[in-house]
Amino acid sequence: MPVQIVVGAQWGDEGKGKIIDYLSEHADLVARYQGGANAGHTVVIGGERYILHLIPSGILHPHTICYLGNGMVIDPAALLQEIGLLTQKGVDVKGRLFISHRAHLVMPYHKLLDQRRELANEQRKIGTTGRGIGPAYVDKVHRMGIRIVDLLDEATLREKIMHNLKEKNAILKALYGQLPLDPEVILRDYRELDEQLDPYIADVSRALNLGIASGKSVLCEGAQGTLLDIDLGTYPYVTSSTPTSGGACTGLGIGPTKIDRVLGVIKAYTTRVGMGPLPTEIAPESDIDLRTLGAEFGATTGRPRRCGWFDAVVANYAVQVNGIAAWAVTKLDVLDTLAEIKICTAYRHHGKEGKNFPADLAVLEHCEPVYETLPGWQVSTTGARTFSALPIRAQQYLRALTEITQTPIEIISVGPNREQTIFC
Ligand code: GDP
Ligand code: IMO
Ligand code: MG
Repeated sequence: MPVQIVVGAQWGDEGKGKIIDYLSEHADLVARYQGGANAGHTVVIGGERYILHLIPSGILHPHTICYLGNGMVIDPAALLQEIGLLTQKGVDVKGRLFISHRAHLVMPYHKLLDQRRELANEQRKIGTTGRGIGPAYVDKVHRMGIRIVDLLDEATLREKIMHNLKEKNAILKALYGQLPLDPEVILRDYRELDEQLDPYIADVSRALNLGIASGKSVLCEGAQGTLLDIDLGTYPYVTSSTPTSGGACTGLGIGPTKIDRVLGVIKAYTTRVGMGPLPTEIAPESDIDLRTLGAEFGATTGRPRRCGWFDAVVANYAVQVNGIAAWAVTKLDVLDTLAEIKICTAYRHHGKEGKNFPADLAVLEHCEPVYETLPGWQVSTTGARTFSALPIRAQQYLRALTEITQTPIEIISVGPNREQTIFC
């Protein structure tokens, strides 16, 4: 498939990292288009676990070239740390990792503001990852962000840091009683980081467009998920970027006419980290403990993830807003031991059933899921490598997901390892 976007269809952590890694075997170029170090994409190869925050999950196949797009917000220290960890594990990124010169930088004040805001607003907190994502995108939209290209010129960088700190230091002091940050220290640190990042900086849009023109196959890797999208998600309990497929065009500088297909990654159940509604959430005191069964703890912050049943209203909304052509269904094995499995087919609100995903969170919070219950298969699926090798009831469950979403399943994941994957 020449140019394919891989997008999370729920609230993130759908297993995008594993699926991107799997698909990268046949990809030439892999490009992240939004978000920053808030992402945590896990890939397990031969017992070795890699957690990628900024670098595309395709990097683990030595033949790929990987890109960080202009739509991202990049914390240079976190990126260099990630490069260092990969290098330690024998993954050489030199000459095969490129960062857009148009991407924005996450600055120390972004992280401070993110964390202080969350602490100060218990009532309104979002439950962010504290990686400075929101404040970095605010500055971008406010047209006072600092971009990778600004690192190249010391005078420009100094002027921009000074300009930003005038405002940020005033806010940090007035609202959070914080001592002022020293512009010279930030300037020195970022100049040092730039020396190490320099060889990676490139015109990513141009490289990708040249690659597409010469017939290379490209995977566009989304971070977060559809319901965390700033425009289309459960606002305000969202991230500050565009994880939905449209973000791939603006976040990489490739035109919509160049996109061939969108693949949606979806868990066989639902999870969410942070605050905000989750209609199919299973109460923590229930004896259905998907958190333990699925090891549902955040890859970035280690926070326990909230868990619930598969929500077809969410899945259908994701198909609609992303143009999803097929599914990769992950973590099917997590349901292996359950006697019964529920699928939410609609929401009931004030006695009325509906299948549309509401924009009004006050409505969503009061939506009651309407469930269809299917029998569990109670056999391990982790060794299956073909659809027909799956237990009949697991096949029925997957067929039910296809039917209710009117979208075919192309990939089924039955364990965290690269080889625990079924291509249908
Ligand atoms: P991402 O952010 O979408 O890449 O997802 P994460 O990596 O944050 O979370 C997915 C978690 O589930 C990781 O720990 C993966 O190793 C794991 N995982 C992925 N696919 C499967 C699967 O099919 N079965 C099981 N049991 N674990 C999986
Ligand atoms: P991956 O790519 C799950 C959530 C946070 C919080 C909200 C805003 O691994 O799927 P932010 O730090 O972005 O301002 O936090 O978004 N969040 C994620 N949840 N997976 C992620 O990424 C997430 N990135 C952010 O928990 O609710
Ligand atoms: Mg994750």
